Amino acid sequence: MTSATGGSSPAASDGRLGRRSFLNWLLGTWAGGVLVAIGFPIVRYMQPPDVAEPATESASGGAAGTLAPNSFRIVPFGAAPAIVVRLATGELRAFSAVCTHLSCTVQYRSDLSQIWCACHNGHYDLNGRNVSGPPPRPLEPYDVSVRNDQIVITRRG
Ligand code: FES
Repeated sequence: MTSATGGSSPAASDGRLGRRSFLNWLLGTWAGGVLVAIGFPIVRYMQPPDVAEPATESASGGAAGTLAPNSFRIVPFGAAPAIVVRLATGELRAFSAVCTHLSCTVQYRSDLSQIWCACHNGHYDLNGRNVSGPPPRPLEPYDVSVRNDQIVITRRG
């Protein structure tokens, strides 16, 4: 029953409010479900796995014959870079190439016969010791061997 002004009775109004509330609740629940369905996989993807990656123990340093004296090569050692240096004497040395200051990748300066970090002018000697600049610690040294002209870098035990 409607009034002369076009309004509805209180009972009809309650029914409309009841339907509106129900539809709002239904829409809210659906939207919440969609957010969880989209958000949960994203959050799970961004979390690191519970099991830590196994540490890399050995990696290839490339062909030994193509690394000239007084030069270097950056190679992957697991997820991090390593630097292989052939000294002017021909001896091979390898270290982690991750600067101990703020983790830039180091390189070899043949003009200084030093390992150098360009980010903040950090210097390491050819034993990996930090000798000047901001690096607080030496580079991690690796063992180096050559098998069938392939350089093999191994983490020290
Ligand atoms: S990151 Fe290498 S000196 Fe700062």
